[in-house]
Amino acid sequence: MRLCEGLQFLILWVQLSQAVGSPLVMDHRSICRKTRRLIGKQAEICRKEPEIVQEVIKGAKLGTGECQFQFKERRWNCSTADKFFGRILMQDRGRGNDWWRNLQDIRETAFVYAVTSAGVTFAVTQSCSMGELLQCGCDYQMKGESPDGSWEWGGCGDDIDFGYTKSREFMDAQTRHRSDIRTLLTLHNNEAGRLAVKNFMRTECKCHGLSGSCAVKTCWKKMPIFREVGVRLKERFNGAFQVMGSNNGKHLIPVGDTIKAPTAEDLVYTNESPNFCKRNRKTGSQGTKGRACNATSMGIGGCDLLCCGRGYKERQVVVEENCKCRFHWCCVVKCSKCTAVKTVHECL
Ligand SMILES: *[C@@H]1O[C@H](CO)[C@@H](O)[C@H](O)[C@H]1NC(C)=O
Ligand SMILES: *[C@@H]1O[C@H](CO)[C@@H](O)[C@H](O)[C@H]1NC(C)=O
Repeated sequence: MRLCEGLQFLILWVQLSQAVGSPLVMDHRSICRKTRRLIGKQAEICRKEPEIVQEVIKGAKLGTGECQFQFKERRWNCSTADKFFGRILMQDRGRGNDWWRNLQDIRETAFVYAVTSAGVTFAVTQSCSMGELLQCGCDYQMKGESPDGSWEWGGCGDDIDFGYTKSREFMDAQTRHRSDIRTLLTLHNNEAGRLAVKNFMRTECKCHGLSGSCAVKTCWKKMPIFREVGVRLKERFNGAFQVMGSNNGKHLIPVGDTIKAPTAEDLVYTNESPNFCKRNRKTGSQGTKGRACNATSMGIGGCDLLCCGRGYKERQVVVEENCKCRFHWCCVVKCSKCTAVKTVHECL
């Protein structure tokens, strides 16, 4: 039995905190207490670096939130992602006719793996910069002047290499030495997620000098904001590559012979997604019945596509809004409550 009680506990905790939206405070001891019987890198991290586990959870939560944002208008809106994320962190591959097993190789799952790995990379790196971890801190590797001499490296650079490495150790832990197509997919998409952070570091600068003059300018490397990471991964999702195993089973090769090979930053999948139109226990699809849709849009999120051609109903709902807002010196805005009738459209 590969599943470990400790991580299961951890997952449960992630799910609970998502359900009630509680802030991430927890006692890593209670989480790692049960993982003694675990083997491999995850267990090692849990035993020796429980504070990293805490960042892993934060990262997974960041990933879930981003997934739900990026997919809010799609048929699969990431609502089942809490289960996804749990099983990804546990490195559980499902068995038999389990919905998870059936969804492992599709585009959506590729995104979830990537955004989770990205989230973990991000969270670990950020806590290094904030001085929350003993193992790491600011990155001072960049030194000296800029090529044109107009500024110099300084300040607290984000130690992305540390975050990248920890994310890889944790997320790739049990799949490292296995070789099957599913493993190759997982490793590839995990890496794509980490690279969506690591390859897009930006330079942030600050001016020093009398009354804001820029006599001295120092710059440091900073991670992209996480929303940008989400947007980028969503683009990769749209352009994801369908692949299959090579003859020796050691590589992924694109399906179709005119197609260029995916880069390390691209997302890959092997199986076509179900359409997610109807509730289906085998795939974990919740269906789109009752989903709010946009009656005037022909695109994703529009009633045509979202409702899978089943049509939609119109409903008037009464909403309470702030209105007649007035600014009072100084500095409050006072509003009255007004009710308004709004038309909403919902899939049949
Ligand atoms: C996502 O879809 C499910 C079921 O289709 C629905 O219950 C849920 O409210 C949706 N979530 C969002 C954020 O729209
Ligand atoms: C619905 O879609 C139209 C056309 O794409 C867009 O202009 C409008 O803002 C959308 N409405 C909402 C509520 O998102």
